[in-house]
Amino acid sequence: MREQSLSDAVRGIRRTALLFDQVAHHFRLMETMTTRDYLGFRDKLSPASGFQSAQLREIEIIMGLKVDDRIPLGHDNSYLRALRYPDGRPSPASKRVEARLKDVPTLLESINEWLHRTPIQGSTPEQEGDTENVRRFVENYLKAQAIEAEEAMILVRDSAPGEADRRRIEERYKQERVKAREFLLAEEVPEEDRLRVARVRAALLFIESYRELPLLAWPREVLDGLVELEQAFVIFRQRHARMVERVIGRRTGTGGSAGVDYLEQTALRYRVFRELWAVRTLMIRKTALPPLRGPDVYGFVAKE
Ligand code: HEM
Repeated sequence: MREQSLSDAVRGIRRTALLFDQVAHHFRLMETMTTRDYLGFRDKLSPASGFQSAQLREIEIIMGLKVDDRIPLGHDNSYLRALRYPDGRPSPASKRVEARLKDVPTLLESINEWLHRTPIQGSTPEQEGDTENVRRFVENYLKAQAIEAEEAMILVRDSAPGEADRRRIEERYKQERVKAREFLLAEEVPEEDRLRVARVRAALLFIESYRELPLLAWPREVLDGLVELEQAFVIFRQRHARMVERVIGRRTGTGGSAGVDYLEQTALRYRVFRELWAVRTLMIRKTALPPLRGPDVYGFVAKE
């Protein structure tokens, strides 16, 4: 993703978020149908299903939903199989989606490639000492975060009714600190990719934390747009599941899935911008942030 295309990207992302928002409202109209109304024509629908929506699959693929994250329906590539004709021949829908799989990079990959270039505390990837600079930023952030978390923990712990509750609260905050470190150092990532992923995560945290810097104005809009998009997508999935439960209960879907159970799983598990959500847990108050280094890189002129 090139810097000069950021404003267009934001417009496209926000437009798609609005689309999910609008479609989710339509489900209210479907709910004017009673269960018996629906059962009256259900046999005519079967085996057709929303599971054959090429458009939804294309959006998921363009965004970067990983194949391994998909909920299996009992056989391999089931989401692709469902798009074919019943005898297994390719259909226009399956051809569209299979072509889309080759359309790379995905939005997630482009965003990560772009995030990786973000100057962090004035340091860029091609610069000597960048790895150490980024590491220093992360360590300073973790220190500041630990102080903030400790203060928050004391407030909650001291108002807890019993000793067992207090211990549980202390443990919970301790785990938050452990997880923050693991996440920012990308400890779960294979060694060959670790530094790259850690830099992307640090960039996310940096943009979100120092969001008022002039150079970060568009990056912050991109991130806000992506959160808006993914949230609207999840709400669309949830809203659809709630409508389906109301109209058909928890029976098997016409596409052969577990119906509402399957739809709820998609709402819970299908996340693309996981790291964008994860940094929200780590963020701290503006006043507690480590001091900004190299402010001129960001077009920020400090007052005399
Ligand atoms: C009362 C009406 C509806 C019922 C009972 C219903 C039910 C279902 C069920 C049970 C599934 C899971 C797949 C299966 O086994 O069939 C599904 C998937 C789906 N439905 Fe609906 N649906 C309804 C209306 C709609 C409408 C109006 C839309 C238009 C946006 C829609 C879009 C989808 C899509 C895109 C999927 C695939 C979801 C995924 O795989 O993540 N459905 N629907």
